[in-house]
Amino acid sequence: MIKILGISGSLRAASYNTALLRAAVPLVGPGAQLDTATLHGIPLYDGDLEQSEGTPAAVRALKDKILASDGLLLVTPEYNNGVPGVFKNAIDWLSRPTPGLPDVFRDRPVAVIGASPGGFGTIMSQTHWLQVLRTLGTRQWHGGRLMVSRAGSVFGTDGAVQDEKVLAQLGEFVQGFAASLK
Ligand code: FNR
Repeated sequence: MIKILGISGSLRAASYNTALLRAAVPLVGPGAQLDTATLHGIPLYDGDLEQSEGTPAAVRALKDKILASDGLLLVTPEYNNGVPGVFKNAIDWLSRPTPGLPDVFRDRPVAVIGASPGGFGTIMSQTHWLQVLRTLGTRQWHGGRLMVSRAGSVFGTDGAVQDEKVLAQLGEFVQGFAASLK
């Protein structure tokens, strides 16, 4: 069974990106499983905290989930044409060494998707992630692209994807990523 871990980069309960990740779970196809994670509980990166207390529990728990996966799906919002600080902060923590644990990013397959209420659907933040993921030594998957624009009309008030075209694109994306991990 191929295991993908999806992380939403938004803390909002009504987040479009978390909703997009949730919608992807049943679409991943046979032979694969998509588990979801959030960034709740991850503190701001602080080198003094790291030195005195080591890796925070929430960061360690997320590292364990990433290490148990075959591939990582980042579902990113876009803030000011870049990656959200909350998401970058988590990735920064995750990039730090933890005694006894291997690097969670090096050679790990990573795919990026995102949703925004605007017209460009996170294209700038997805592009911004490229340089971060390159630095981390990930294997970036570019077999598909998904930028969900006009999120206000794509998602219903219950958070479900009500746009059939987006649903089809989402399924194609996650199935393509899963197939690349087999
Ligand atoms: C935004 N938003 C935004 N959207 C976008 O498409 N391009 C952008 O540059 C920005 N910039 C931006 C900055 C800040 C500080 C905030 C708070 C928001 C809007 C953003 O896409 C919107 O709030 C989404 O709903 C955020 O994603 P979630 O929380 O719905 O997943």
